[in-house]
Amino acid sequence: MIIAKTISEVRTIRWENPNLSWGLVPTMGYLHEGHLSLARHARKNNDRVAATIFVNPTQFSPDEDLSTYPRALEQDLALLARENVDLVFVPADNEIYPPDFQTEVHLKQVTQPLEGSSRPTHFLGVATVVAKLFNIIQPTRAYFGQKDAQQTVVLKQMVRDLNFNLELVVCPTVREPDGLAMSSRNKYLSVAERKAAVVLNRALTAGETAVSQGERSGDTVRQIMRDIINAEPLARLDYISAADPLTLVELGQIKTGVLLSTAVFFRTTRLIDNLLIERI
Ligand code: PAF
Repeated sequence: MIIAKTISEVRTIRWENPNLSWGLVPTMGYLHEGHLSLARHARKNNDRVAATIFVNPTQFSPDEDLSTYPRALEQDLALLARENVDLVFVPADNEIYPPDFQTEVHLKQVTQPLEGSSRPTHFLGVATVVAKLFNIIQPTRAYFGQKDAQQTVVLKQMVRDLNFNLELVVCPTVREPDGLAMSSRNKYLSVAERKAAVVLNRALTAGETAVSQGERSGDTVRQIMRDIINAEPLARLDYISAADPLTLVELGQIKTGVLLSTAVFFRTTRLIDNLLIERI
């Protein structure tokens, strides 16, 4: 496994043999099974696999956890080597954002609701860094987790709008045995909060059950999920949503598919999760 710190090293390795397909797994490190499952999907369907480890400062607002975001580079590299990843790009901040950096990738609509309403500059940072990683590596396919549902919607829109020549592959959320979605931020939870955090999945599953039993009112489905989260004393609801899976606009009536999603605080730790019902 080659560890590259510069864009020029990455480009040399990427283009040694232009006939090979490359799968890309962008990460911010502190890898868990969710990330490793992306690497396995990439390994299966590409000649070569690249991962990136870069805690992207522009997707954190000043009051968020950039300085304390968990990091474990040596452990991450060992895990990626075990998945037979060929290349890991670990750039310094100024390799990605040199002092004269000026360009941002702004998507007007799909970035606004849900995560965007709580974290207004988040997707500006995500879209900008992912566009750069796509241009640096020029992968055949890029792999993202369904856990960050809005991120996948935003990035698919960006790929269409800016004509990136790649396939964006969304892989299923990987969960702990009790249903909690894996996340690098789970490590911030106390023992009691960790137990309580299963409430996200319980609420979403209750919403899914209601829809599968014929409930078609978006308001009713949102209320069912909201009641479950509000009943958990350690949880503080940020948002609950039953939205169109493509536009992310809240649904009055559920007619075809629906993305059920939520963000919940446990003290200062904010967790997100979702369930996608593609067809009712
Ligand atoms: O999902 C993440 O870990 C990040 O948002 C990403 C896609 C690596 C961009 O920094």
